Amino acid sequence: MGIVELAESAGVKLRRSGKTYTGFCPFHSNTKTPAFVIWPESGTWRCFGECGEGGDIFKFVMKKEGVEFKDALKILAERTGVTLAEYQPQAPEQKEEYQRLRNLLEEAATFYRHHLVSTEGGSVALAYLMEKRKITRDTIDRFSLGFAPNGWDSTLTHFKTKGYSESDLLDVGLITERESGGYYDKFRNRVMIPIRTEDGKMAGFGARILDPNDIPKFMNSPQTVLFDKSSILFGLNQAKKPIRSADQAVIVEGYLDVIALHQAGFSNAVSPMGTAITETQIRMLKKFSRKIILALDPDSAGQKAVMRGLESARSSMDSEDEVRFDAHGLLRHEHRLSADLRVASMPDGLDPDEVVEKNPDLWRQLVASAKPVVEYVLDTLIAQQDVNDPKNKSAIVTRMIPLIEDLPDPIQRDAYRQMVARKVKVDERSLLAIKVHEKPSLPRWKEKPVAQNSGQNKPSTLIVNGNENVEITILAILLQNPGLLPKLDRKLSESNLQSLGWQDFNSTEMHIILSLLQRSLEQDQLELSKFVEVNVPDEVRPMYQRIVGQRQANSLEDRLLDELLRSIFAIRKDRIKKELEQISYLMKDPDNATPAKLSDLSGVMQAHSMQLKNLDDARKKMTEYRQK
Ligand code: UTP
Ligand code: MN
Repeated sequence: MGIVELAESAGVKLRRSGKTYTGFCPFHSNTKTPAFVIWPESGTWRCFGECGEGGDIFKFVMKKEGVEFKDALKILAERTGVTLAEYQPQAPEQKEEYQRLRNLLEEAATFYRHHLVSTEGGSVALAYLMEKRKITRDTIDRFSLGFAPNGWDSTLTHFKTKGYSESDLLDVGLITERESGGYYDKFRNRVMIPIRTEDGKMAGFGARILDPNDIPKFMNSPQTVLFDKSSILFGLNQAKKPIRSADQAVIVEGYLDVIALHQAGFSNAVSPMGTAITETQIRMLKKFSRKIILALDPDSAGQKAVMRGLESARSSMDSEDEVRFDAHGLLRHEHRLSADLRVASMPDGLDPDEVVEKNPDLWRQLVASAKPVVEYVLDTLIAQQDVNDPKNKSAIVTRMIPLIEDLPDPIQRDAYRQMVARKVKVDERSLLAIKVHEKPSLPRWKEKPVAQNSGQNKPSTLIVNGNENVEITILAILLQNPGLLPKLDRKLSESNLQSLGWQDFNSTEMHIILSLLQRSLEQDQLELSKFVEVNVPDEVRPMYQRIVGQRQANSLEDRLLDELLRSIFAIRKDRIKKELEQISYLMKDPDNATPAKLSDLSGVMQAHSMQLKNLDDARKKMTEYRQK
């Protein structure tokens, strides 16, 4: 639902004037002056009369119905028939149902474990783990490894007698339906590896073959309500603390690598589920440490993937969550999440579990000498060919430059150009002559959260906010340095400008985050940014995550303040110009043609023009200052 329809359905009579609509403000009693304006393009509204309120559709509903953001979301969802799965807290019945299925998985882990350690059938598996893979009893217990017996219905029968239905077993992925009807055990004659969520709840299983002729080598639980492969990392429940205390996380490719590493005392290791790493997973790790090392098996798909796509600077229009597992993608995510990603490669065809089993010190060394992505790519290219051959020099440089030019940080770009020049042995100046294809810019569309998971987004829910990135930058800097806010406001007022306020931001989520920042300064119970973090309402969290994901590289406070001011000037100028244009429309409106109303509006207009002038002055002062 667009803001225009919303206002109309709330009884506001609107008149179109150019790109905007005007009417009487529904939020204060003076309904004689049409001072209420809607900009359908940015999905925002503003009252230039008594109440001076404004915002997006959510703010409109909040004001109109006197409700919180959460309820405004609900109301809008009901009206548009769009479900809000992402924001809805789980219904209690659903929670119970999930709990029941989780218990089933927990019992399954116990069942498989029993078969591993106390049955005749499990003895081969136990010997495989302990003798061949050198996994101790203690580790087997710690990860509650198990064995799925070799029958077609051992699991099925066991759980049916325990009162679970076939549909329960199907829901958690323990059985498979036969084409001819009926069911059979999904996991047979395999080592079972329970996979848990970050907080230790059962989510699914990974299952490795014992018989080398069986395929596939690993079988994982299917994607179920409890098992979302893109947001689980194997071992994280046990690796959380070690990652925090080592201030470093290591991602390896296989479950057994994680297990072997933990056993050897390197408990900061996790692995994905044989699927590509997602941004969600990197975010999860980043909560514990920003230093993340990818330990890639030699000649593995992962290692090849990092080297892929070096030919061109890639577009920035990838979907939000997927980490493109190639050098460009990794670098972009590294920047976006302000993480420190490095790559370690294993020697001599050894997997991490073999390395650590043979020589724990070697593992330590390999991790310590992990390289930043750019350097890793460069060294790999150099290792593949003779760099003294001019043709090879040129080939390596041509592949490295787009990657380097793609880096957002000019200092890093410089440093890596120098590194390429040094390692490939060419003059650095010759690197600057190489042209890079222009990158397509980010689309300026922003989907409002209401429509996000409906698949039936109407154009009216697509909102254009060209300033959104700047707005996010402002909040990101402040969230990282809340103490800057009072300093910023002082600077603004020195230039006769208003303090930072909700008016500077389009979306209600941002209004809420800003007000939390302001409130954080009025309390002394919690560290400022912690205060914001714990108080962000669930419904606003996706926006909050977006903002904190944009964390700025730490730089000097003065530079941040500078950046803040410049960003604020930019969005204000834009807004004031837009509003001035609107006020002059309002003044031409015959309904406003009384001396009193005209003088009201011209007052607003003067205030706006003054603001604009002050803004320009402040901007000039800043540039002069910088030029000195
Ligand atoms: P690997 O084949 O490298 O296995 O797959 P591994 O962990 O080294 O196993 P071992 O050492 O031979 O026992 C790495 C990961 O890729 C996923 C699994 O998560 C595995 O741990 N994988 C692999 C699958 O999901 N399916 C497969 O068929 C193979
Ligand atoms: Mn292996």
